[in-house]
Parts: sequence; C-alpha cells; structure tokens
Amino acid sequence: MKKLVAYFSATGTTENIAQTIAQLLECDIFEIVPRELYTKDDLDWMNPSSRSSLEMKDKSSRPEIDSSVIGMADYDVIILGFPIWWYVAPTIINTFLETYDLSGKTIIPFATSGGSDMGNTVEGLKLSAPESEFIEGRVLNNTSKADIAGWLRSLFLSFGIDQVKWQTMDHDEKNHQLFLKQKAMLQQFLANGAITQEQYDKSYGDMKKKMGYDD
Ligand SMILES: Cc1cc2nc3c(=O)[nH]c(=O)nc-3n(C[C@H](O)[C@H](O)[C@H](O)COP(=O)(O)O)c2cc1C
Repeated sequence: MKKLVAYFSATGTTENIAQTIAQLLECDIFEIVPRELYTKDDLDWMNPSSRSSLEMKDKSSRPEIDSSVIGMADYDVIILGFPIWWYVAPTIINTFLETYDLSGKTIIPFATSGGSDMGNTVEGLKLSAPESEFIEGRVLNNTSKADIAGWLRSLFLSFGIDQVKWQTMDHDEKNHQLFLKQKAMLQQFLANGAITQEQYDKSYGDMKKKMGYDD
C-alpha cells in the first residue's frame, strides 16, 4: 500500500504536522504550492475583500497549483493536510483533488486550525473526488508526535489485510491479524524514534491485555 502525504500550508503549521506524518509512515511527501503565493495581506480574514476572503466566499474558486505529483496512479492512500479557512478546507485543496484521477484511492484528511474542528470539511472535499473513499480525518492542533503516531496506528490497523481472506477468518484469526499489525506498527514507530521504549512497552502491554493475548 503506497502512501503519499500531500499538504498545503500558508504559514508553516500544517507543514510541520505533514512532515511528522511522512516521517512516521516513511512515505513520500508533496507540498501543494500555489502558483501565486499567499501574502500576509492575502491571508487577512478581517478584510472581506482580501484574496482568501474572496476565494472562500466563492465555492467555485480554484486557485492554481504550481507543480504536480509524479506517478499519482501508484498511490493507494493520500493523507491530505491543510489549514482550516472559514471552517473548511481552502479551495486550493479542491483544485488539487480535481487535478487527478483519484478513483478508488483512500483519502485521509487532516488539518490545523485556530480552534475549529473539521465541521463539514469532508463533505465539501468529497464533491471534488466523488470516486474516492474518504476516511474521517481530524484536526491535529498541539498534537505530540506520540499522539500522531497513535492516530496513524489506529487508522492503518485494518489496512493492508487481504479483504477476501479476512471474510473467511473466524474471530480469533481476525484478532490475531490485528494484533500482528498493531505490533508491527508499534515496532516501526519505536525503530524510527516516534515513541520511546517506555511508550512502546506500555502500548504493547495495553494492546495484549485488550486483545486477550499473552504474546
Ligand atoms: C484566511 C484564513 C481563515 C481562517 N479561518 C479559520 C477558521 O475558520 N477556524 C479556525 O479555527 N482557524 C482559522 N484560521 C487559522 C488557521 O486555520 C490556522 O492558523 C492554521 O494552523 C494555519 O495553518 P498553516 O500555517 O499551515 O497555514 C484561518 C486562517 C486564515 C489565514
């Protein structure tokens, strides 16, 4: 399962989170760079005629993007990051989604904000990629690396397991598969420094208890 972190960030906050996610998942990262960069004045939400205000008032605005993802067809999962603007994703995210054939791909949105949550953001994005599967994303404000790791672990738990075989497994087998996947992810996070040995031991212990395993 090939993953891509794609993000737009006007002032660097979302970029930090995007980099952490890409590092944790050891996957490719792509910055959605506007053809015309947003200036401080462009971002002034107090001004009803600033560029961002005008764009966000016009749901059909599609700010241009400067470069494109090479080999998009090869990716199965896109982890898509952006700041919340006026309670939703900036319309350049719609531009991004409409640039590619994303049918059959899984899209996992994440955002940073001044306090708003995702609200109706995902509904708006779905209109630009109707053939993709959206997973309920989340806002990652003031989130530690370990918490981001925990979120990713829960997200990817059911991924990558052969769905046909899965249907034929009994409860114990399913449990075992999930256990192995969780364990592998924890080990990966420990190996790349996302969690400490202590956090690993605790998570692993909790996981064993929850799933009723000795090992
Ligand atoms: C035009 C504009 C609109 C914004 N609207 C909201 C909003 O509706 N709710 C909110 O919590 N934060 C809002 N913010 C704050 C940003 O979501 C927040 O600062 C974000 O972390 C910036 O991410 P970035 O540094 O990656 O661009 C807005 C910021 C801008 C520039």
